[in-house]
Amino acid sequence: MKVLDAEFVKSAVAPGEWPDAAHPEIAFVGRSNVGKSSMLNRLVGRKGLARVSNTPGRTRLLNFFDVTLERAASKEVLRICDLPGYGFAKVSKAERGQWVHMIEAYLAERQSLKAVVVIVDVRVGPTDDDVQMIRWLEENGRRPIVVATKLDKLPKARRAGRLRQIEPVLQLPPRALLGFSSEEGLGRDELWSAILAAAHS
Ligand code: GTP
Ligand code: MG
Repeated sequence: MKVLDAEFVKSAVAPGEWPDAAHPEIAFVGRSNVGKSSMLNRLVGRKGLARVSNTPGRTRLLNFFDVTLERAASKEVLRICDLPGYGFAKVSKAERGQWVHMIEAYLAERQSLKAVVVIVDVRVGPTDDDVQMIRWLEENGRRPIVVATKLDKLPKARRAGRLRQIEPVLQLPPRALLGFSSEEGLGRDELWSAILAAAHS
């Protein structure tokens, strides 16, 4: 995939602040610190695009980016939304409630949203929050693209087996779970294919 340009559009909380629905949009969700921003940076090949943090739960806003791709000699723009992580224990209940509200409003109501990339940690495995998020998306008519990241943290020989082990926990069909590593760049082409198929559906 050739990325011609990637730029930050804006941060938002309330629906009135969301940018216009001009382009097919793909959202990235997952537990706090799972590696959402790193995946986004690796996908577009821009290290500093989305902020990567060592402090879990630092991304507290919806962050929108426009990515211009070269496709069959023409240009195509996709809009990406990096969402705040869920399931972070060290915030107050009230604050967590606000996040859930912000995320759910966006995922339920965003007109141009074509797919939601749900990211799980391949070593930690899916948490209850991950399972709930996937079910919630399906109930709300959203198509999840589920990706297990940090694959580089497992020895090569154990990677495929671990992916197949996680699938039934998430009630995914065999081979539906994509593997990824932001560190090594693994799985980038497969994820782009899934994203583009969803964006054009
Ligand atoms: P929040 O926005 O705070 O919820 O975090 P996030 O999901 O955006 O995670 P982020 O990309 O900030 O990464 C969190 C930590 O995990 C950072 O220290 C990253 O360097 C590390 N990390 C992310 N992806 C990978 C990966 O594929 N492999 C390895 N080894 N580390 C990773
Ligand atoms: Mg982040």
